[in-house]
Amino acid sequence: MILVTGGAGFIGSNFVLDWFNSSQEKIINLDNLTYAGNLENLASLSDDDRHIFIKGDIADEILVADLLRKYEVRAIVNFAAESHVDRSILGPKAFIETNVVGTFNLLETSRAYWNSLDEKQKSKFRFLHVSTDEVYGSLGADDHPFTEANRYEPNSPYSASKAASDHLVRSYFHTYGFPVVTTNCSNNYGPYHFPEKLIPLVIVNALDGLPIPVYGDGKQIRDWLYVKDHCSAIRCVLEKGATGETYNVGGWNEKMNIQIVETICDILDKRHPKADGVSYKSQITYVKDRPGHDRRYAIDASKIQKDLGWIPQETFESGIEKTVAWYLDNSTWIENIKSGSYRQWIDANYFGR
Ligand code: NAD
Ligand code: TYD
Repeated sequence: MILVTGGAGFIGSNFVLDWFNSSQEKIINLDNLTYAGNLENLASLSDDDRHIFIKGDIADEILVADLLRKYEVRAIVNFAAESHVDRSILGPKAFIETNVVGTFNLLETSRAYWNSLDEKQKSKFRFLHVSTDEVYGSLGADDHPFTEANRYEPNSPYSASKAASDHLVRSYFHTYGFPVVTTNCSNNYGPYHFPEKLIPLVIVNALDGLPIPVYGDGKQIRDWLYVKDHCSAIRCVLEKGATGETYNVGGWNEKMNIQIVETICDILDKRHPKADGVSYKSQITYVKDRPGHDRRYAIDASKIQKDLGWIPQETFESGIEKTVAWYLDNSTWIENIKSGSYRQWIDANYFGR
């Protein structure tokens, strides 16, 4: 049995769904269902007893200790986090509470449980911490992509809180011998991506005939990874990763934001043309930049390839086609999100700009 935290969010739910394609091992999914947690993502597992969903907080030591003991958990994959940079700018506190204090509590509870195991179980136990490339800060145009040896230079409250959690995880290995492994991943995209992030927001706004907001000059660079490739990397690290190590995960797909936006518009023009024949590109609107906006992220994923044999399967071109198709086929999922508190976030982030 493995414990997945944050498994109702974007990457966590993709991970849970994909897990059962290659494993019969059960998952306990602990998620406190913030605005980003959505049980609809897991609807296909509602009658599947391999998946046990528990609504709760990673910071709840009593609950987590009970779950670990009751289900004799052999590994934890920690996705639970506040994950959106813009939200961290407008309200950083929740990021400290979950990403720093929550991770700390989860580490403490898991360490106590691990200490109670026999030597054989102890040696097999893993705590896999899912983190981000944003902890490394921002690259110049000609800098080499981030390797695992890069200095931590986080620039947003989000990346600073993730950096703090990474440091805690690292320290538990060095101080207590607790068997951790950390992955630092680039920007993901794919099904079930909450439409506050760039790619799903562009698709949703385009289809609604709304402005497609591009921050600043739109020339910031991100390195895009199809979410199912990220999930396969995590399975690979869980199985073969060395404890105490960190692995960078990326798709070798550096793109400027404006290229991403235009590519999505081109795909929509082809798959779902507007009645008046005008391109979706006419909705692109440059808006005020994000404060402290990191210019470029890029991942050197050679270590995970060399040491563990992992490579991504999707190119950006194939992954973005699949993603747009998924959003076109899942309009009910989008409508249900928009009927919640989503509108308030859009007003807070874009109307005050
Ligand atoms: P997400 O915001 O879509 O989902 C986060 C999930 O965690 C939600 O289901 C939420 O309800 C849950 N959660 C939040 N606080 C919790 C708490 N205190 N206790 C229990 N559950 C809680 O995030 P995501 O995009 O799926 O990201 C997952 C992880 O991957 C995060 O740790 C994030 O930092 C990391 N990451 C994300 C990306 C990306 O591009 N999305 C890239 C690199 C790393
Ligand atoms: P985002 O998806 O929020 O991921 P991150 O900030 O963690 O990389 O944003 C990706 C890029 O797109 C980032 O450079 C900010 C930019 N962006 C826009 O230009 N417009 C938007 O409305 C959003 C949400 C993001």
